[in-house]
Amino acid sequence: AYESIQVTSAQKHVLHVQLNRPEKRNAMNRAFWRELVECFQKISKDSDCRAVVVSGAGKMFTSGIDLMDMASDILQPPGDDVARIAWYLRDLISRYQKTFTVIEKCPKPVIAAIHGGCIGGGVDLISACDIRYCTQDAFFQVKEVDVGLAADVGTLQRLPKVIGNRSLVNELTFTARKMMADEALDSGLVSRVFPDKDVMLNAAFALAADISSKSPVAVQGSKINLIYSRDHSVDESLDYMATWNMSMLQTQDIIKSVQAAMEKKDSKSITFSKL
Ligand SMILES: *[C@@H]1O[C@H](CO)[C@@H](O)[C@H](O)[C@H]1NC(C)=O
Ligand SMILES: *[C@@H]1O[C@H](CO)[C@@H](O)[C@H](O)[C@H]1NC(C)=O
Repeated sequence: AYESIQVTSAQKHVLHVQLNRPEKRNAMNRAFWRELVECFQKISKDSDCRAVVVSGAGKMFTSGIDLMDMASDILQPPGDDVARIAWYLRDLISRYQKTFTVIEKCPKPVIAAIHGGCIGGGVDLISACDIRYCTQDAFFQVKEVDVGLAADVGTLQRLPKVIGNRSLVNELTFTARKMMADEALDSGLVSRVFPDKDVMLNAAFALAADISSKSPVAVQGSKINLIYSRDHSVDESLDYMATWNMSMLQTQDIIKSVQAAMEKKDSKSITFSKL
């Protein structure tokens, strides 16, 4: 049981993680930064789970960091000289970064379903997800410069790799302007836009169901190798893939899949073991 998020089983093999402080526009408070780590570390080891949908309860996805709750940590850091204060802050920032890195480290595909606003830390969060859907009323805002800081928990590192349009990333970052759903779709930040939240969530769960009908060895191995290849050369990534597959190719999942194909059975009828 968490206080800032809610985790429910949406359907077989699919978990729904909801940012769940609707009265605070899902602002990321102290509890949130800790709980999201616990939650995704648990999901990583959950052999029943094959896909995750992340959404926000209430009016918007998230308004970003909860400055009221976090102010004392950031604005009055303990320590009696510059080095000691900096030492404390470095540890704090690294811990906050981990809050979203756990999503990327989680081998299960994570789909972000965004409605209303996705502000500040929200962009850091969704940049670490694998697939993004949004509603027509959604907007995205890299808000940090407006509060006098450079985004420090993942946006600057991941967003350029997600949308690949450097000029646009720089513009969004330096101005903190809102990017609306249509531009998010054009730039590749999201892959689909929906008229409202219900329709979007249905589509996100249908996508999650489709993913979770596939071999988890193949899907989760693909996620790990896609992220590896984003950060390494083609040669290094091929080498990693070969080493990966020298064990993973021995899975029963391949035999089951080939058999089903030969018997012209729907791949959804195959039962893959837990992973
Ligand atoms: C980059 O983003 C801008 C603003 O959304 C868009 O007009 C432009 O076509 C994009 N360029 C590329 C190469 O995607
Ligand atoms: C690795 O194995 C996967 C199935 O798990 C297969 O789709 C892929 O083509 C293989 N890649 C290589 C380089 O052998």
